[in-house]
Amino acid sequence: MAVALIVAAGRGERLGSEGPKAFVALRGRPMLEWSVEVLSAVCDQVVVALPPGVHAPAGTIGVVGGAERSHSVRNALHAASGDPVLVHDAARPLLTAELAQACLDALDARDLDAAIAAAPVTDTIKEAGADRVVARTLDRSRLWAIQTPQAFRAAVLHRALEAGAGVLAQATDDAWLVERAGGRVRVVESSAANFKVTTAHDLAVAEGLLC
Ligand code: CTP
Ligand code: MG
Repeated sequence: MAVALIVAAGRGERLGSEGPKAFVALRGRPMLEWSVEVLSAVCDQVVVALPPGVHAPAGTIGVVGGAERSHSVRNALHAASGDPVLVHDAARPLLTAELAQACLDALDARDLDAAIAAAPVTDTIKEAGADRVVARTLDRSRLWAIQTPQAFRAAVLHRALEAGAGVLAQATDDAWLVERAGGRVRVVESSAANFKVTTAHDLAVAEGLLC
């Protein structure tokens, strides 16, 4: 039985909205609702990590999120009962059921610990020092921009989230926690359409694309 964990407890500082980002109106509904609708169709249970004092959307289990994103994932995982686990950011309201299912299907390969949505990088990526002088240009054909959803075996994610507070604070995605523990992670091809709403510009683009 697959379970979805949606993290929606962030403040949305870069968006600069009045309330938490996941509850900003997007085509007339809170941003979170778009992900809840898609993942309810793919998973048997949906757990949402929320800011304090906010009610869980209908049909979902609500938990209070933590100070860092990884803490929110951990709180949601503790309230979940299912395997595999699909972790998703409420800030990516344009995910599709096909992408979520493709991550779950990819995880069926026995040798994998995680299968994560990712888009091939289209920009040239260079590494620069603090002085902004370029140190090297990376081989773009091997680079992927990592997104959510990310599918994990429940036991693997539980173990990965037992890392210390410093490590959890450093994690920008959950797959990294699995990688650093020696886990095998595969990317599942997605596209830039599944972007993360971070700024007011992103919100305007999402508003135009959703219908
Ligand atoms: N998130 C969370 N708990 C936190 C921090 C983030 O549940 N303590 C969630 C956000 O709600 C979001 C996802 O993690 O759905 C990705 O985080 P991000 O895009 O950084 O959102 P915010 O942290 O809300 O935005 P900002 O960093 O601009 O404040
Ligand atoms: Mg954040």
